[in-house]
Amino acid sequence: MTHRELFVTTALPYANGPLHIGHVMEYIQADIWVRYQRLRGATVHFVGADDAHGAPIMIAAEKAGKTPRQYVAEIAASRRQYLDGFFLSFDHWHSTDSPENTELSQEIYRRLRARELIATRTIEQFYDPVKGMFLPDRYIRGECPRCGAADQYGDSCEVCGAVYAPTELKHPRSALSGATPEVRASEHHFFRLSDSRCREFLRGWIQGGRLQPEVANKAREWLDGEQELADWDISRDAPYFGIPIPDAPGKYFYVWLDAPIGYLASLKAYCARRQLDFEAVLRNPRTEQIHFIGKDIIYFHTLFWPAMLEFAGPPFKVPDRVNVHGFITVSGEKMSKSRGTGIDPLRYLALGMNPEWLRYYIAAKLNAHVEDVDFNPDDFLQRVNSDLIGKYVNIASRAATFLTRHFDGRTTNLQNAADRLPPVLRQQPDTLGQEIAQAYEDREFGKAIRIAMAYADEVNTYFDAAKPWELAKKLGQGSAGEDARRLQEICSVTLRGFQYLTLWLKPVLPRLAEDAESFLGCGPMRWESSLPPLERIAPYRHLMARVEETQIDALFTPPALAGSGAALTTVTPTKEMKVSSPENSPAPAPANGTAAPQPAAPAPVSIDDFGKIELRIARIVNAEPVEGAEKLLRLTVDIGEARPRNVFAGIKSAYQPEQLIGKLTVVVANLAPRKMKFGISEAMVLAASHEDQKANPGLFLLEPHAGAQPGMRVR
Ligand code: MSP
Ligand code: ZN
Repeated sequence: MTHRELFVTTALPYANGPLHIGHVMEYIQADIWVRYQRLRGATVHFVGADDAHGAPIMIAAEKAGKTPRQYVAEIAASRRQYLDGFFLSFDHWHSTDSPENTELSQEIYRRLRARELIATRTIEQFYDPVKGMFLPDRYIRGECPRCGAADQYGDSCEVCGAVYAPTELKHPRSALSGATPEVRASEHHFFRLSDSRCREFLRGWIQGGRLQPEVANKAREWLDGEQELADWDISRDAPYFGIPIPDAPGKYFYVWLDAPIGYLASLKAYCARRQLDFEAVLRNPRTEQIHFIGKDIIYFHTLFWPAMLEFAGPPFKVPDRVNVHGFITVSGEKMSKSRGTGIDPLRYLALGMNPEWLRYYIAAKLNAHVEDVDFNPDDFLQRVNSDLIGKYVNIASRAATFLTRHFDGRTTNLQNAADRLPPVLRQQPDTLGQEIAQAYEDREFGKAIRIAMAYADEVNTYFDAAKPWELAKKLGQGSAGEDARRLQEICSVTLRGFQYLTLWLKPVLPRLAEDAESFLGCGPMRWESSLPPLERIAPYRHLMARVEETQIDALFTPPALAGSGAALTTVTPTKEMKVSSPENSPAPAPANGTAAPQPAAPAPVSIDDFGKIELRIARIVNAEPVEGAEKLLRLTVDIGEARPRNVFAGIKSAYQPEQLIGKLTVVVANLAPRKMKFGISEAMVLAASHEDQKANPGLFLLEPHAGAQPGMRVR
């Protein structure tokens, strides 16, 4: 096979929050593919970056009392832990807020302009006169023009599902200042995607076998469907955290223009570091440019991005592949973009859970289609303990014991024993190895794992049928000669099987493979060479621990609130609010819901302790009963973030859902998300209640005085 040169990227995460399990899943997928390619001898440039620009980040920074640069720098500093923690072998991690990206974005824009693919047009938009800025749709609230529901977003209604333009909202107001926005005109820059050159090019590009069939269909629909492909608005007015548009004072590139160019910026910075010629890498016709992304950003990567690159011209090249994955859910629950899921990747690591368990589990569930992947705790435990450890890892310890005890770790020379080899070692591994290789190449990781595990079953079956322990017993009783030869051969054959499995799983389990290679004494294995022969193994050391159920429980239980959990009088937890591991939750409640009268007063806390609790004003934008839950209401609360949060509150006995919609209240915003039977609760509402709730069952939500705005801190 010819030498491959690959430029591989993953989508650039917004620099406005920690990485979540969805990001980690994407990186694991790409990393497995990249590691496989490296094992085959390919040269891979694997890069990522933070997506730093845009209005939401600018606003979040302001709220945090920081400059956008400070804000994104702090986020950037946290990335290393995830990348190292999950063995993600990126060569470089960059930022879209960088000199490389500014230069490349402006260069690409100039080239598009020279080819008359940039147009300017005046458009009308809502403007916040208090903040002095144009408002993105999501920062405009008002009454739904269709159903009249209060406090809806500028683009769609969460109550009736209507979709509209922000200017259609009744009584619109700015979510940033509360002011009534004005309609103002401003000149915008557009990328002329509707130009016939773009359409023609995209038709060919989409057809070129670069996309999964279902993705190509989607792109084709957008391109040639009923709705004309519209020109793309690529400019934003100051104030904006972004890259200035050349020759257009006060105008910045819309974040989605410079974000994918960030792939190139990261490659460029990496090349500079490694003294590679960036342009030469791109110009090399053999270089394959491959993007891994999630299903929500297909539009940007299959229309805008290839068209931008095509018409910018060399050295820029169009993507050779865009590989799209589905979303990860946790126990069937979608996760919220802003809050993540019940699984926090850093908590996973902090609990001492092995990153390779997750890599294995995700690999086992991935295929080449745009399908969602569910993280199911029971399934996770089962696959790791029964398959990964039970079938594969244990082979090593079973066979090693006899070799170490009776033969000083020395193995039989299987080359000499070739005529006696059992089916597990005859030809079969070569065939399987090729099938597994193809599966990795095609991103059919689940298939690769299935083939490997079926082989592991065969190796175990061979070992069990040969009953080496009986031979070992005879040896113990003084037998030698043929019995000893047999025993040594059985164990050697078995370990040879283990060695194949180790190579096949190496893209998924890089650290385990390294440990196994040093145990086997065979040096680092590569895919293309024939497997190095075994001579003498090291005494077996534990290669991998099993997942404990208590670890999974802890993973889904929020870390105890700083200070005393009991310091806050909250809605009495009921059995419906039980999280996976009640024994670890901060304020354990009797399962029958009859909370004992609380002790008179919790111990005093310092003001610092109190400050650890983030109380914020929330607007209840929706409230509804929860099917199957007697005491719970599901609240959707706006606390001034881009997305509202989901909260389960045990207040059904005291309120009708309709009474609550539109009301302001107070929530604990930094309570770690809680996984409940009905979903994830992302904050806690505060309510007053009598000490003895049995005798005096009233419940009273807190409500601020007039003037308080969602998102305000309570302290
Ligand atoms: N900043 C843009 C991407 C710019 S690329 C030039 C963005 N960022 S993101 O942080 O919202 O998402 C980053 C990646 O994570 C995307 O590929 C997205 O699809 C992926 N995921 C977000 N949630 C996910 C899951 N629940 N599951 C798997 N991947 C998910 O979009
Ligand atoms: Zn509506």
